[in-house]
Amino acid sequence: MADILQIGKDAQESKRHFPDTIDASIGMFYDENHVVGGFPSVYRVLKSLAPELMLPYNSVDGGTEFKQNVSSWLLGRYEKLIWDTMHPFVCSTPGGSGVVSAVFASYGREKEAILVPNIRWQYGRFAKPRALTLETYTMFEGSAFNLKDFEFKLTKLAAHQKRIIVVINDPCHNPSGYTLQLSEWLAIIDLLNRFSDHEIVLLYDVAYIDYSLEKDARLKISYLPTLGKHVVTVMAFSGSKTFGAYGLRLGAAISLSVDEKKAMECQQKLYGYACGTWSSSATPSIELMMRKENKPEFLADLAKAKDTISQRGVIFKKQAADIQLKTAPYVNGFYSFVLCDKSEEVYAKLAEHHIFVVPMEGGIRVALCSLSLKEVDGLAAKIKTIASL
Ligand SMILES: Cc1ncc(COP(=O)(O)O)c(C=O)c1O
Repeated sequence: MADILQIGKDAQESKRHFPDTIDASIGMFYDENHVVGGFPSVYRVLKSLAPELMLPYNSVDGGTEFKQNVSSWLLGRYEKLIWDTMHPFVCSTPGGSGVVSAVFASYGREKEAILVPNIRWQYGRFAKPRALTLETYTMFEGSAFNLKDFEFKLTKLAAHQKRIIVVINDPCHNPSGYTLQLSEWLAIIDLLNRFSDHEIVLLYDVAYIDYSLEKDARLKISYLPTLGKHVVTVMAFSGSKTFGAYGLRLGAAISLSVDEKKAMECQQKLYGYACGTWSSSATPSIELMMRKENKPEFLADLAKAKDTISQRGVIFKKQAADIQLKTAPYVNGFYSFVLCDKSEEVYAKLAEHHIFVVPMEGGIRVALCSLSLKEVDGLAAKIKTIASL
């Protein structure tokens, strides 16, 4: 498994010697002036924090106001529906990563498998310390979600596991940039409901929800109450992505179930895990979630970042299609995934030409989020020529 942070460091080193370096390795948004984060409003808030808002310990779950703010932000207009029909619990975590770690550690049983797609973010790293394995399904069939293989692998797992952790990363899936159609989401829910004699733990990783171009990026959340009593859902919120503040380690879990007992059990597990690991999240990051007075500027910054990423995606997608460079189906988001064999070799060839991407199983991930429009323009052709794809 490629070490993304190390590749990022190699790219920085290359930049020092070669000004033509293209660093498409890391999942951080850089604006068109190459400023990391690209959210001036966020940086302003951080600089203005008084010591008493930065330095003290926080409570384990982030505190009442934080939890309310996360709930309102993430559940949006469906907040009332969710609170009326399910039993939510919010807990602060160090980034969305904290949620993944907490779910795998709390629900994973040694040597059992977690259901993930073949193209995915580094969930394997979180599974390893728990001695969990991965059962993979082929994520796409043509340009659509491969429900058939999802069902096949879920059924296979269900034959010998009572509890199944299912990971769904949507919208703007990392690394493909795919966003599930509503019909696909409903089909997934329907399928999970058919396994009612199993315990399903749905890790719903919405790290990129605030970059989705869907008309209503939270509509899918409104269907969570249709999941049966055998399902507990844990949503992973990433403040890193939403606020463009990657090093602050802001994140939160929202656990939900229509079954009160399951919901309480999940709450205890998540809280207990937080107590016994990171203990509390970074106070400045919690504070960031409270600053309502800066919301209009923040929303403007977010809209700008989203639009910039979208423009980069449009260029890359069109230029890749024009020259028949094969990618996984891309809707929008931080990354595009170029399909290829021997991705390590492709990575090495590109790196020789000062282009840094991330080699993964079945392809290379191109982080459009960190490139300027100028760098994106022509990149598909460079990749195709250099790697002979
Ligand atoms: C799909 C996905 N989930 C979760 C995360 C976690 O990010 P963080 O821990 O910075 O919030 C990432 C980060 O790249 C991601 O791509």
